[in-house]
Amino acid sequence: MSDNIDIAAAFIKTGNIVAFPTETVFGLGCDATNSVACQKIYELKNRPIHNPLIIHVENTKQAQNIGKFNDDANKLANHFWPGPLTLVLNIADDCSITKTALAGLNTVAIRIPAHKTAIELIKKAECPVAAPSANPSGYISSTTSFHVAKHFSDKNVLILPSDNECYYGIESTILDLTSEVPTILRLGFITAEAISEILSKPVEMSGASVAIKAPGMLAKHYSPYAKVRLEAIVARETEIALNFKDSNLQSNFSLNLSVSGDLVEAANNLYKMLRILDDYALENSIPAIAIAKIPDVNIGIAINDRLKRAASDS
Ligand code: TXA
Ligand code: MG
Repeated sequence: MSDNIDIAAAFIKTGNIVAFPTETVFGLGCDATNSVACQKIYELKNRPIHNPLIIHVENTKQAQNIGKFNDDANKLANHFWPGPLTLVLNIADDCSITKTALAGLNTVAIRIPAHKTAIELIKKAECPVAAPSANPSGYISSTTSFHVAKHFSDKNVLILPSDNECYYGIESTILDLTSEVPTILRLGFITAEAISEILSKPVEMSGASVAIKAPGMLAKHYSPYAKVRLEAIVARETEIALNFKDSNLQSNFSLNLSVSGDLVEAANNLYKMLRILDDYALENSIPAIAIAKIPDVNIGIAINDRLKRAASDS
């Protein structure tokens, strides 16, 4: 594995693109100081150029060269990094990240991933690594190297295998620390309560009432090609189904996110199962996927956020 990572690091150093596992989802990464390489990532994903990339670093010192850390940022970094929390900060005075990665903004989204392959890659590449999720823009994120290969195998992207999969299975929590009150821009495994406890103050949720901070927060995202119908009680004849616990959506083809009702297991299965269902739907001309109700507690809140975006028409 280490040999693979050496080759991947050399690939990044020479301005190329590497797909690598993190504890959340696979990233499509490059040298974050290289404008041409970052440009390639937008093109590969067909990502709007005004939607900035997350910058992955190996330690807090490297993060502090990129973003301006205030007390809140220090507390959260100490507590949650490495891990699935992305902090949005004002850029540091001599920040080396290319404006292409930042989509021209004066803020930067940073995180230290916890996956050992990701950390080893960033260390060996000797640069901050810009990496959005490794999927075509708007489609379901990739949580295995096979998902990545499906989209990018013919595109001169080096895809690292993962012996220890993306164990959380959904993207990091994004917290904006540039606003007066810390604001969650994207829900994830690190909850508002956990953040609030570390900061000893309330945090806000970005919602319809708050101006959209980043275009990536647009309603439609994480979407299969098939239509998605949420909180289904009975599956229609034209639908295949995704169950949870003892929900009983019956169809020719159905999967269950977690038979035991474990929300952590459900998050881990979410994208894998949505992709399997979507492939099946495409192959069999089935227009829609019915999805059972998921409890809106703990990590279920982040799962429901992703499902709402997957089901959104706009
Ligand atoms: O778990 C994750 O965060 C994964 C892994 C690969 O680290 N990455 C990921 O990246 O989900 P992506 O590009 O799919 O989502 C990043 C989100 C986008 O919605 C983008 O708009 C937002 O982060 N973002 C990036 N920079 C930002 C900034 N300066 N201010 C606000 N939002 C920002
Ligand atoms: Mg993404």
